[in-house]
Amino acid sequence: MIEKRIVIVAAIFVLAITGVIGLSVRLWGIGVPTCITDVRPFRDAKLIEQGPKRYELHYVARMWTFEPADVAVPPGSTVDLYLSTPDVTHGMNIVGTNVNLMAVPGAVNYARVKFDKAGDYLVVCNEYCGVAHHNMAGHIHVTDAAAAPPLPVPMPGASLTKVLEENGCTACHSLDGTPAAGPTFKGLYGSKRILANGGIVTADDAYLRESVEHPDAKVVKGFEAMPALPVNAADIPRILAAIKSVR
Ligand code: CUA
Repeated sequence: MIEKRIVIVAAIFVLAITGVIGLSVRLWGIGVPTCITDVRPFRDAKLIEQGPKRYELHYVARMWTFEPADVAVPPGSTVDLYLSTPDVTHGMNIVGTNVNLMAVPGAVNYARVKFDKAGDYLVVCNEYCGVAHHNMAGHIHVTDAAAAPPLPVPMPGASLTKVLEENGCTACHSLDGTPAAGPTFKGLYGSKRILANGGIVTADDAYLRESVEHPDAKVVKGFEAMPALPVNAADIPRILAAIKSVR
C-alpha cells in the first residue's frame, strides 16, 4: 500500500525534524526564534539589568536605526532580546552570531542570546526597508567596562547595632556574649529569662520594650536593675530590631 508508506515516511520526516530542532536547542543552545503574542509592541528602547550578567533588551528597529544604538554588556551575559518596530518590517542580524530575527509591525519577536566573547557586534538589517536600508545598523559592545560596579556589601549587623552604641546600651551589654554589667544581647531575643523574683519570661518584643522603658520592672536574676536611660523614644523600634539581630 503506497499510501501507508507515504504516511509512515512523512511521520518519520516530521519526527526527524522535530528531533533536530530539539537537539539544536539542547546541545548547541540555538534559540528557536519566537514571535511572542503576549508582549505588547513597544517603542521605548532600553536595556534592563535583571541580575549579574542577565539582561533584558527592548530593541526597536525603525527606519533606519536600531535603538538603543549602542548597547554594552559584560562578557558572559545572557540577553533576552525583544524586538519591535513601529514602522515597517526589518530584519535583525547580529553579525558573528546565529541571531537572525524579523521585526514585524504589531508583533514582538524574541531570542535569547549569550555573549561569551568580548567584542563589538555589528547589528544589521537584512530586510529591505527603504532607501537607507543599507545604512541601518546598531552596535552591541561586549566589554568588561560594561560590568556594573559591584553593589556595596550590605552590613546589616554593623549598621543595625550602631543604635545600641549611640544610646549607650553597649556600655553594659555585650553583643558577643562577653560578661558585663548587664546581660549580653547575644541570643537574648526569644530566650527565657529567669528573673530576680523567681519568675520566668520570654524575651519578646514586649519584654524588650518594657526593659528599655522601665528597666526595674523585670530584673534578670544575677543582675542589678538597669539605671533608667534617657533613651530617645523614636529610637526604641531600632533598638529592639538591633537586639533581635544579635544572634
Ligand atoms: Cu531595516 Cu532594512
